[in-house]
Amino acid sequence: MKKVYIETYGCQMNVADSEIVFSILEKKGYLRTEDISLADVIFANTCSIRDNAEQRIWGRIEQFNIQRKARPGVVVGILGCMAERLKEALLESGKVDLVAGPDAYRRLPQMLEAALEGHPQIDVMLSREETYADITPVRLDSNGVSAFISIMRGCNNVCSYCVVPYTRGAERSRDHRTIVREACDCAQKGYKELTLLGQNVDSYRDGEVDFAGLLGLVAEAVPQMRIRFSTSNPQDISDYVLSTMASHANIAHHIHLPVQSGSDRILEKMRRKYSRQWYLDRVAKIREIIPDCAITTDVIAGFCSETEEDHADTLSIFEAVGFDAAYMFYYSERPGTLAARKYPDDVPLDVKTRRLEEIISLQNRLSLESNRADIGKRFTVLVEGTSKKKKEELCGRNSQNKMCVWPDCDHKAGDFVEVEVLDCTQATLLCKLV
Ligand code: SAH
Ligand code: SF4
Ligand code: F3S
Repeated sequence: MKKVYIETYGCQMNVADSEIVFSILEKKGYLRTEDISLADVIFANTCSIRDNAEQRIWGRIEQFNIQRKARPGVVVGILGCMAERLKEALLESGKVDLVAGPDAYRRLPQMLEAALEGHPQIDVMLSREETYADITPVRLDSNGVSAFISIMRGCNNVCSYCVVPYTRGAERSRDHRTIVREACDCAQKGYKELTLLGQNVDSYRDGEVDFAGLLGLVAEAVPQMRIRFSTSNPQDISDYVLSTMASHANIAHHIHLPVQSGSDRILEKMRRKYSRQWYLDRVAKIREIIPDCAITTDVIAGFCSETEEDHADTLSIFEAVGFDAAYMFYYSERPGTLAARKYPDDVPLDVKTRRLEEIISLQNRLSLESNRADIGKRFTVLVEGTSKKKKEELCGRNSQNKMCVWPDCDHKAGDFVEVEVLDCTQATLLCKLV
């Protein structure tokens, strides 16, 4: 039996996809290995979102080729977004035997059979229908507590900086019955938390069921589980989603709401379909309906033509919202996107990095302030395991997705426990059991 090793890069959707890939291969008798030196097949499920994500993967491909040279017959395969973006160029590098885009995974068994016989393989066809709805993923995470469920694929927005619509294709929603079934299956297998995944979950639609409807159906089907979702788009998140969150005790109070920029001029160039004021109004609505809701974000520093004034607008929207956490990047031009075709990438690298540093240090302060405001509060936390720093401490996240640690010898991963916050760092709430 052939052994498959897989490394996963990029977003949670790729994690979910690797689980689908394993499920497809397992049915054909492939075994999984976590030891690359034992693998007959080495896969990287890849990300193209920024140039440095791709550079890192090229570095890994070099490493894989050490295995490939030492053990003739080993197949190196590139899956995911970089496969879709670079296509034949990956095979032409001479370092890769198989290239499969995100909608080609059902064909992997045939492709592998041919590749293992020495015939290079490529399938980068995108589909309008594929959702892998009928495939039960093989959960790859080992803690057995938290599972991802893809509810849709692709993206129909064309944010000008973003490569995702090109690598993932058109948006399609998965049959809601298969999502509910998968949620119940996770509950039966002992999982305690689900994250519903899509690039733009608010545009989910399966017949009469929109995202708020789906969220309610899932929350009611598995009342003992905690439900999360990502990613919400500020232009689309509806009051109905917020009221569904408020009316179901098991939906986590956390919304990831990428702002990207605080400047209306830049938002327009980015082709985000909201303004700064719209974003602030959505935040106000979230806080009105779910007062203790955490709000986190993504931001891009140094997009084409960004001035110091635009940058100041980004800093001020961070300050105005007081994000609980943020993923922060500087702009990386992606070939083929609208921005790459239309706007020069004209903010010098040193300016981009300086602006990014300024956003990061502001967010560090905001994260600390957000955590300090929690001192004295009590939270229900889902235990993930022992804390990285001290083995007599457990760690887990509260509803707001904040990491908590506390001394505890009595509980285990998968338990829900009550804690009180005694102190904090910028990244963690330091708690005691109550
Ligand atoms: N669908 C999500 C985002 C998915 S990509 C949304 O619309 O919000 C994750 C994050 O990567 C984005 O939110 C953005 O902040 C960042 N990103 C995307 N393209 C980028 C680029 N070309 N350069 C730098 N960051 C980028
Ligand atoms: Fe990219 Fe915009 Fe789609 Fe998000 S919504 S994946 S940023 S195109
Ligand atoms: Fe990366 Fe593709 Fe996700 S580009 S962020 S792995 S959708």
